[in-house]
Amino acid sequence: MNRKYRKTVIAGNWKMNKTPSETKEFMAQLKTIMPKGRWCDIALCVPAVCIPAAVRAMRETRVGIGAENCNANASGAYTGEIATNMLVDAGCKYVIIGHSERRAMGETDADVNAKVLAALEAGLTPIMCCGESLEQREAGITDEWIAMQIKLGLQGVAEDKIRKVIIAYEPIWAIGTGRTATPEQAEEVCENIRTVVRKLYSSKHARAISILYGGSMNEKNAFELLAQPDIDGGLIGGASLVPEKFVKIIEAANQPTV
Ligand code: PGA
Repeated sequence: MNRKYRKTVIAGNWKMNKTPSETKEFMAQLKTIMPKGRWCDIALCVPAVCIPAAVRAMRETRVGIGAENCNANASGAYTGEIATNMLVDAGCKYVIIGHSERRAMGETDADVNAKVLAALEAGLTPIMCCGESLEQREAGITDEWIAMQIKLGLQGVAEDKIRKVIIAYEPIWAIGTGRTATPEQAEEVCENIRTVVRKLYSSKHARAISILYGGSMNEKNAFELLAQPDIDGGLIGGASLVPEKFVKIIEAANQPTV
């Protein structure tokens, strides 16, 4: 982290977990144990049907609610899809885009790019995910792969909008497996992502953008991961489903930075 230049962001990704009633219960519990300090931004990205309950519960708090996906089109014949302006109207501030689980369902870099542009246009903060598979890591092509995902995902994002984008590095082999990247492995890739942003934009922009790590981040390993200079927060799956665990990760963001 480096709080001098950029925001620290602790974001939860609930995936397909919790009903609206369970959301209400979770938020009530979270409110009672939420740390008072304001050392990071907090986001909870929840299933679409849980958004109203989450927004209602967290209205007077510093927790921003987000969606886990969006459609890049403004409106029309896209059965089952949700447009960015609908998310804004429902009270969302964030949207996860290009999660590897969605890419595995067929989402391409071009789709990710269109969604990032649509989210920014609507005033949402996109959390754009990237990450390599185990085969790619073992083949030694992690840096090239991630650089390509970042370049394609950010195509056409204007200079005055790039600061709004949050990038999440999530090695696929670490998601939901309990196998976390080491702080050094995660830092290496996050630093590389910042270099890609520097080349695409400028040092000033690269310094200002928040890059999160995701993949089995939990209350035990968060402190060490967040101590890395280029890891500005976390995108947390499993551990974001338990209020006590999520709060411990928020507390881990309260440490001296470089
Ligand atoms: P995990 O998920 O923390 O359960 O590994 C992270 C993610 O997929 O965003």
